[in-house]
Amino acid sequence: MIIAHISDTHIALDTDDADQRIRDFESTIVDINALDPAPDVIVHTGDIVHNGRADEYAQAVATLAKARAPVYVMVGNKDDRGNLLKAFAGCGYLGANSEFVDYAVEDFPVRLVMLDTLNPSSNKGDFCSKRVARLKEMIDAETTKPIAVFTHHPPFEVPVGPEPHHFDSREAMADLTDTLQSSGRVIAVFCGHVHRFAHGNIGDIAASVVTAISTTLRKGEYPAEADARPLYHLHRFDPKRGFATETRIVGLRS
Ligand SMILES: [Fe+2]
Repeated sequence: MIIAHISDTHIALDTDDADQRIRDFESTIVDINALDPAPDVIVHTGDIVHNGRADEYAQAVATLAKARAPVYVMVGNKDDRGNLLKAFAGCGYLGANSEFVDYAVEDFPVRLVMLDTLNPSSNKGDFCSKRVARLKEMIDAETTKPIAVFTHHPPFEVPVGPEPHHFDSREAMADLTDTLQSSGRVIAVFCGHVHRFAHGNIGDIAASVVTAISTTLRKGEYPAEADARPLYHLHRFDPKRGFATETRIVGLRS
């Protein structure tokens, strides 16, 4: 099983770099479509758009409609739950009136559990008791397969960058990580938000962050060949060895 993991496209229509953000998103989808073998699924870990606007989502939906693999999305701090749910209503996996953008994907040897860590009044993440209960329910709905969890905000300390903690409340983050660890079946946590690559652990669970697709917004150091080219992750799952992650540079074929 191969997961193409993208994040932080920040589609905007009226910034100086708006066209570049759209080009970065489009070229990434073209690159993913050309992969051989093709990925089974594409996951976008949020900050799909920059201002939560319906016209921004229309642009993002048009780009994602060109993807050959099924696409699953979630909210980041720049997203708007209501407008996102409306924009992606036709995709069939989001409840139009859902209080949170969280759900499980059951079509693969690894279950994909998508979490909503949005706090509409903060750039940092939140995970309230309602979401803990919803996560427990999703985890317990199937007890035989391993689980990969996707979140926008990384629920672990990220030692690179100015801000190691990405949740407003340490307690909320601990409630989330305790729940992730309690089943013993969560084998990986994949995140966005930080706009740079990072790795960590949640107990025995490997966790990582993929950088922003938007080349104008990403942070950190990158190799020269990645200059002006978006970067994304491919997570390959093997039943015996678990996940191995490869970083892809858009437009460069190895
Ligand atoms: Fe972002």
